[in-house]
Amino acid sequence: MNDPKRYLITSALPYANGPKHIGHLAGAYLPADTYVRYLRARQKDVVYVCGSDEHGAAITIQAMKENTTPREIVDKYHAMLKSNMADLGISFDIYHRTSEPIHHETAQEFFTALNDKGLLEVKETEQYFDAEAHTFLADRYITGTCPVCGNPSAYGDQCEKCGTSLSPEQLINPRSTLSGNEPIKKATTHWYLPLNLYEDFLRQWILEDHKSDWKANVLGQCKGWIEAGLQPRAVTRDLDWGVPVPLKEAAGKVLYVWFDAPIGYISATKQWALDNGKDWKPYWQDKDTKLVHFIGKDNIVFHCIIFPVMLKLHGDILPENVPSNEFMNLEGDKMSTSRGWSIEMDDYINDFVKKENGGDQLVDALRYYLTAIAPETKDSEFTWKGFQDAVNSELVAVFGNFVNRSFVLMHKLCSGKVPPFHNDLLDDTDKQLLLDIQQTKTTVENLIETYKFRDALTAVMDLARKGNKYMQDKQPWIVAKQTGDDGKPVMAAQQQIDNSLHLCLQLTANLAILINPFLPFAAKKMCHMMKVVDKMLEWENAGSAKLLKVGYSLRAPELLFRKIDDNEVAEQIQKLKTKSEQLKMDNPVTENDSAAEVLPQKAEIVFDDFAKIDLRVGTITAAEKVEKADKLLKLEVDLGSEKRTIVSGIALHFDPVDIIGKQVTVVTNLAARKMRGIESNGMILMAEDAGGKLKFVNPDEAVANGSGVS
Ligand code: MF3
Ligand code: ZN
Repeated sequence: MNDPKRYLITSALPYANGPKHIGHLAGAYLPADTYVRYLRARQKDVVYVCGSDEHGAAITIQAMKENTTPREIVDKYHAMLKSNMADLGISFDIYHRTSEPIHHETAQEFFTALNDKGLLEVKETEQYFDAEAHTFLADRYITGTCPVCGNPSAYGDQCEKCGTSLSPEQLINPRSTLSGNEPIKKATTHWYLPLNLYEDFLRQWILEDHKSDWKANVLGQCKGWIEAGLQPRAVTRDLDWGVPVPLKEAAGKVLYVWFDAPIGYISATKQWALDNGKDWKPYWQDKDTKLVHFIGKDNIVFHCIIFPVMLKLHGDILPENVPSNEFMNLEGDKMSTSRGWSIEMDDYINDFVKKENGGDQLVDALRYYLTAIAPETKDSEFTWKGFQDAVNSELVAVFGNFVNRSFVLMHKLCSGKVPPFHNDLLDDTDKQLLLDIQQTKTTVENLIETYKFRDALTAVMDLARKGNKYMQDKQPWIVAKQTGDDGKPVMAAQQQIDNSLHLCLQLTANLAILINPFLPFAAKKMCHMMKVVDKMLEWENAGSAKLLKVGYSLRAPELLFRKIDDNEVAEQIQKLKTKSEQLKMDNPVTENDSAAEVLPQKAEIVFDDFAKIDLRVGTITAAEKVEKADKLLKLEVDLGSEKRTIVSGIALHFDPVDIIGKQVTVVTNLAARKMRGIESNGMILMAEDAGGKLKFVNPDEAVANGSGVS
């Protein structure tokens, strides 16, 4: 769509069922925010909506876990998510919530409109039911093995591993999440969206009309589903938390969370319009609106298949694009809050941003690294070392350094004012830099408009790098040494200095504009240093070398970014390990994250890495339960030359009497750790099977205690 009249940008509504991690941030929020800030800098009419997804089993199950009500859960986590997003500079025009009355009304009207037109099917079917918990089992209330990829923890509506949308009947070995029981069947009536009738429409709209502008990962998933054939999908549920189905005969039923949640984009737009004296309708009904949904890959089916069919039937516009990201892994493993293997936005904010004055620069540091490694086309990996390298050797050493040098030299050699440019001295190096400035603007905008934020950011950094190179070629501090009798640079020298610093400062102004969508706090600080108002950041100013007036005096430089220390990295890695081990200890197998999932391959190591681990065979000579710790056993292990005390989180799997005399493999050079007051000296290797059962790893025939393993 060329030059739309207005933009409506959405980020997936996060479930208000817990903190969200930086993988979520990198997937659906940061790229959208970058895009929106760019559009605003282009003076476009743009509204950016989001909010908390407060319905569905994700919420009610969390309420059970925390032994409280769904209402308390959503209130608590909505507040947390809203403030986290604001702290990270995610500039929503509104962050709404789906428990608001205006949302309930909007979702009900939507349902009624489709139902009144006869576009929904009503069917009575036999559905899974938990006789003990007296609940029908759908969505997250039922798990089983995914028929497509074999993931043993697929939900009743979706396998989050391969993204396939499912119905409970498709699960292999279904189990109730509530009781763990095998479910029985019971009859119930539901309303269905007949997706099967719209296969042709979807095939044309996605696979033809958008075959060249949608991302390959998105097209690939859509093609798979359409080709496999679409099924009618129930849009109502037998639950008591959610938007009530607005029909007398549907008492006790609510809308399926994935029916109401995307309508949350519409209700958020309505609320924004009410708050701002605007009309919401054109944003959803006028064909000149460009609607873009930013999401993570587990949301593709809902945003590309189900919601578009709903929108089409309701008579609304369809999304122009659904730029979905793949997943971001963390230090060699899948990111997961429930396993403790994650960096929560809230934790990053507390550990970095709020810990020091001017902590905003650490928001930009995170935004920088997350964009630089964005999983745009395939899964990517966050490492704390990678974060440190990106900040120290790129942000600080390239971008920050260039800006700082330009300001310092201007204060030293040009009395703190923007020096004049002497046209007669314009040389090829200057010309090349001017060309680079112009070209970078075009490059960056083309990349942002095609959702390639990673490459766009690289292009901005490359321009900063060229600035450093230019400065190195011109060496104004050396030129300044050509002094006359008065100790000041000779006239010709001063003119050369003027020219080089003039261009460096104009480049700095350009860098502020170009970096603004990505690192808004740095851009703001640069404006302050240049004593210009935010208006200078308008995108159309980029490319020009006349942004700062000659003779204008500028402020002293401030450091834009600080380095990340080794000890900060070490602390975070330790924190991650402690958190995940603690969770493993408290909860050896969590329902949704069983280790039986096909584990992602860890990063390659060299033999020397492996050789650092000291592995030996030993025999358990004593075992007892640790007081007040359900999961811990205290073991004595005979390693031949010595006996060790080892505390192991295996009490739910083994009876102490059964394991005395067993041989096990021990990591003997792991740093000692205190658990429940007992010092544990080593770790026992365990294998975990599909059901989360643990088994010892031992030699197939007894060997002498202390035998090495390699
Ligand atoms: N809450 C969902 C999730 O976290 C996303 C909802 S997006 C919306 O996966 F479109 F439904 F709003
Ligand atoms: Zn699957």
